[in-house]
Amino acid sequence: MMLFAFTSSALVITLLVLSTRDTKASCLPCQPPSKRVNIARGASIPISRRGVWSPKITSPTLGTVWTGNENVRVTWNATSPPSDITNPNGKLVLGYVEDGSDNEHLQLDPPLAAGFDIRNGFVDFKVPQVEDRNDYIVVLFGDSGNRSPAFTIKSNPS
Ligand SMILES: *[C@@H]1O[C@H](CO)[C@@H](O)[C@H](O)[C@H]1NC(C)=O
Repeated sequence: MMLFAFTSSALVITLLVLSTRDTKASCLPCQPPSKRVNIARGASIPISRRGVWSPKITSPTLGTVWTGNENVRVTWNATSPPSDITNPNGKLVLGYVEDGSDNEHLQLDPPLAAGFDIRNGFVDFKVPQVEDRNDYIVVLFGDSGNRSPAFTIKSNPS
């Protein structure tokens, strides 16, 4: 009986490994929900555990340019949040994605913003002083999980 339980769970694990192994396809930026995300400082959070709701981030978009120290607003489509949200407490995190890599380099601490209600559909904050890149993303956490298209942040020359 024990042996049976052991071998069947081993089988399940093997099947899981096999079924997730080939998801690293040529389809960035689309990501299967089971995919793990590498985080710059060693942590790893599966997208599926980011939450149950994936509101579409409507700003920033592909052409967006932010400047360090500028006040900006990130928006997402909060038209119809599910009624069973258990954690409306949002957190917005900056990251970046380089071509050919799944690593989102999420800067979890400090986040861009935290403690807002994801059902509001927006959050305002000041852009941090970060290096110039044109492959930044923002990722929304809470009972939700989604990321924006890549956009640009330029440092403030002053
Ligand atoms: C927002 O989401 C609702 C419900 O899912 C959808 O009907 C609507 O078209 C979306 N609006 C935008 C601007 O994406």
